[in-house]
Amino acid sequence: VEVIVQAIVLVGGEGTRLRPLTFGTPKPMVPIMNVPFLARTLERLYEAGIRDVILPAGYLPQAIIDYFGDGSRLDMNVTYVIEDEPLGTAGALKNVEQLVTGAFFVLNGDVLTSLDLRAMMAFHKERGGLGALHLIRVDDPSAFGCVVSDENHRISAFVEKPPKGSEPTNEINAGTYLLEPKVLSMIPVGCNVSIERETFPKILAGGDALYAYTTTDYWIDLGRPEHYLAAHRDILSGLMPLKLEPGVSGEGKHGVHAAIVPPVHVGPDVRIDESAMVGPNVVLGKGCSIGPNARLRESVLWEGVEVGEGAVIEESIVASRTRIGAGARLGAGTVVGHDVVIEAGTQIEPGGRVGAAAPVVSP
Ligand code: GTP
Repeated sequence: VEVIVQAIVLVGGEGTRLRPLTFGTPKPMVPIMNVPFLARTLERLYEAGIRDVILPAGYLPQAIIDYFGDGSRLDMNVTYVIEDEPLGTAGALKNVEQLVTGAFFVLNGDVLTSLDLRAMMAFHKERGGLGALHLIRVDDPSAFGCVVSDENHRISAFVEKPPKGSEPTNEINAGTYLLEPKVLSMIPVGCNVSIERETFPKILAGGDALYAYTTTDYWIDLGRPEHYLAAHRDILSGLMPLKLEPGVSGEGKHGVHAAIVPPVHVGPDVRIDESAMVGPNVVLGKGCSIGPNARLRESVLWEGVEVGEGAVIEESIVASRTRIGAGARLGAGTVVGHDVVIEAGTQIEPGGRVGAAAPVVSP
C-alpha cells in the first residue's frame, strides 16, 4: 500500500435538515467556531500529509469555489467536480474516477471528529483488503448505519437504521473511508448510488474484504441543528480539540466589557453593550452587535447579526446579517436563516424555523 495522497470530500448534499441555514450556505461552508467547516476538514487532511483534494459538489458549489479557489492559499490542490443531478455518495465517487491515482480517503463533508488519519492509514496498510471504514460506538445505533465485524476486524454485514432493540452492534459507520481504486470499478456509471446502502454490501457479497477501524475519538454529524450546537459546546469545553482563531473568551479583552459567562468565543469587530449578558456557550461571528440588556446563552450567531435591546436568545442558531429586534425572544431550538428581520417584541416558540424560501439553485 502506497502513501495516501488524495482525499475526496463529499460536499454535494442539500443539507435539508439544517434548513433554513442551508438555503444561504451549503452545509460544508457552515461555520464552526467562525470558520467554514470544510476549511477545518482540509486542515486535518493537510496535517495528515494530503495535498490533493477532490470535491464532488452540486448544491451551491460557487460558495465553496469562491472560498477555496484552486487551494493554493492552503498549499493544496483542490479540484471541483460539479454534478448536474445528485449522484449519491458512491455515484459522486464514480464521477471523479479519472482523477484518482491510488488509494484515497473519502470523507463525509459534515462529520466533526478527532480521528487520526495517519493511524487509519497504518491500519489499512496492515489489514489490506479493499478498504478500511472508520466506526465509532454510540449509545443508540438505531438512527445510524450499523457495521458488524469479526474479531479480526473484517466486516461481515451492514445494517442500515435497525429498529430499536434489534441492533446487531453499537458500532456505526462514522463517514470516513480509506478505499482502494478497485472499489470505483464496482460502482455503476452515471446514476445515483449510495455507498453505504449499495456499494459496501456489494463488495462483501463479491467476497472482497473491508475492515472496521473502530476508535473512541470524538465524533459528531453536524447535519442537525441540535448537533451543530452540541459540537460548539464540545469545542468550547475542550472535549473536541480544535485549533482556534484568536477570539475573546473572557472579560475585558478586545473592548468587550459585558457580563461574559464563559465559555464564549467572539470573532473580530464584535460590539457587546456593557449591560448585556452573554454565555455560557455562545459564539459570535465577525461584526455582530449585541444591544443593551440583551441576554444570549447556548447559541451561535454568524456574521453581522444585530441583536436589539433586551432581546433574549437561547439555544438558537442565527445566520448572517439577521436583525433581531428589541425585546424579541428566540426560544430554545430556534433556527433563523440569513438576512431575516425579526420585528421588535416577536416571540418565537421553541424549535422555530424562520427564514427565506429556498433559493433558485443552478449548479
Ligand atoms: P440532509 O439533506 O440533511 O440529509 O443532508 P445531506 O444530504 O446534505 O447530507 P448526508 O448526511 O445525507 O450526506 C453525507 C455527505 O455526503 C454530506 O457531506 C453530503 O454533502 C454528501 N452528499 C450527499 N449526497 C450527495 C450527492 O449526491 N453528491 C455529492 N457530491 N455529495 C453528496
